[in-house]
Amino acid sequence: NKIVLAYSGGLDTSVILRWLKETCNCPVVAYAADIGQEEDWEAVRQKGLATGADEVIISDLKEEFVRDYVFPAFRANAIYEGSYLLGTSLARPVIAKEQVRIAEACGADAVSHGATGKGNDQVRFELSYLALNPKLTIIAPWRVWDLNSRTKLMAYAEKHGIPVPVTKEKPYSSDENLLHISFEGGILEDPWNEPEEAMFKLSVAPEKAPDKPTYLELTFEQGNPVAIDGERLGPAAMLARLNQLGGANGVGRLDMVENRFVGMKSRGVYETPGGTILRAAHRDLETITLDREVMKIRDSLVPRYSELIYNGFWFSPEMKMLQNTVDYAQSTVNGVVRLKLYKGNCIPVGRKSENSLYQESFATFEEDEVYRQADAEGFIRLQGLRLTMQALGKR
Ligand code: ARG
Ligand code: SIN
Repeated sequence: NKIVLAYSGGLDTSVILRWLKETCNCPVVAYAADIGQEEDWEAVRQKGLATGADEVIISDLKEEFVRDYVFPAFRANAIYEGSYLLGTSLARPVIAKEQVRIAEACGADAVSHGATGKGNDQVRFELSYLALNPKLTIIAPWRVWDLNSRTKLMAYAEKHGIPVPVTKEKPYSSDENLLHISFEGGILEDPWNEPEEAMFKLSVAPEKAPDKPTYLELTFEQGNPVAIDGERLGPAAMLARLNQLGGANGVGRLDMVENRFVGMKSRGVYETPGGTILRAAHRDLETITLDREVMKIRDSLVPRYSELIYNGFWFSPEMKMLQNTVDYAQSTVNGVVRLKLYKGNCIPVGRKSENSLYQESFATFEEDEVYRQADAEGFIRLQGLRLTMQALGKR
């Protein structure tokens, strides 16, 4: 009887909006999530109404996105396939959660999204819907209709008087939020093609970055960044500021081929300036504030944890368990990291903490009571027992 559509104002979701109106014969609420992408929200509202929405709802999720999704993931040092900082993957659950809230609040019985049937995003949206309210009917037009090409979409838009973007269509698709911008598809599909410089939006090319390094001090409390150079900033403002600092120094570009959950490989290019700084700083602070064995076990969980986010299982019991485990170890991750940003590099150059486990007097060669060098002889002999026995056996 009523559908809430995750709407961006772009061509795809505009066509979907009208298609839902024509196909389902019921009120459609166009819901747009502000997660920090550059957008004229008034224009999105007007366009939604002009395209046929019965109501347009724009939700500002920036603070929630960074505080409850980005920061938890960075407390865990999340990274997919060793490189990707999960910018899109982390945004989908927060968008879906608000969508479900709106559906419940306005008495809708269905939710819809504009993700294609080939990608990860459909899985992330729908697993979130299922976890939060399995009673909602899910409508994924891309998997249903026959508008399976750009030309057909444009034709449909023209036929129904849907405003088509006047700017020249970009030869790739992009997805932006406070954590990153992603580029894929189109001319990027050939993984041998280097993207043109004009594509990048959040960062300068490393070779165009200043010849002088930028230094900053990042303060953490329980694994969360709370201040830059002593100035306290809330989550969204913090990430925005790190994006500026990193972007100006060419930090955070990534070009990779990744494995989508549905089974295909996909080439993606990302700019994650602030996230790249955040991860480097956080890991560095952990080197003095985490116990060795705690860090080892936590590190072993990172690939699993990251895969859960990538595959759309944010709202799952195993995710809760891992987040709790990771956060338990973050209570001592307090302190300051000093970083140098220089032509695409982000280099930690200093770290200090009230909770530091590093003892200068232990590491140096001065004499002391706790560590007796003589003890090392037996330690090594017993560690080497197997090796000794086997070497003797071979003789
Ligand atoms: N490949 C990345 C991911 O799966 C980025 C996806 C971009 N999504 C999009 N709708 N453009 O997280
Ligand atoms: C899409 O197919 O809708 C975007 C790419 C992805 O979800 O992986």
